[in-house]
Amino acid sequence: MKVVVIQGPNLNMLGMREQNIYGPMKLEDIHAQMQGVAEQNNIEIEFFQSNLEGEIVDRLQECLGEADGIIINPAAYTHTSIAIRDAIAAIQIPTVEVHLSNIYQREEFRHKSLTAPVCAGQIAGFGPFSYHLAMVSIMQIMNELKAMREAQQAQQAQLNLQN
Ligand code: DQA
Repeated sequence: MKVVVIQGPNLNMLGMREQNIYGPMKLEDIHAQMQGVAEQNNIEIEFFQSNLEGEIVDRLQECLGEADGIIINPAAYTHTSIAIRDAIAAIQIPTVEVHLSNIYQREEFRHKSLTAPVCAGQIAGFGPFSYHLAMVSIMQIMNELKAMREAQQAQQAQLNLQN
């Protein structure tokens, strides 16, 4: 099973950017931790960061037929991008939205997420640990879906035998 992690604008600047809000950890260190969890659970993982909305839409579309689950921090696009929301809705791959900061404690313009309603769920406010929680969540969702598909296949095989 494969997870694609998509990081939006300015997240490449973690570690130096507004440390009082986002903390001192760099994006590559967060990714290294996620990679470790993925390896422990036999999951393939790939990371993508872009500051451009269209590139994020392209990467989401490329996930079709490639990813079993997506973790996305759309960053500022969370609050503005209908295009990213539509791409998540279109591909129908379970997606977990993640934020380092608690967007509901911050400026009012951050309180609305255009993308969360088309995601399986949202995790916000736990700093880099938000990404760990997102990993645990997406693995749970992927396992449940896999178990459901296998049960359906077994049921179908049983029906085929009877007919
Ligand atoms: C963020 C929250 C957004 O409001 C902001 O624009 C970001 C980062 C977070 O992870 O807390 O760039 O997505």
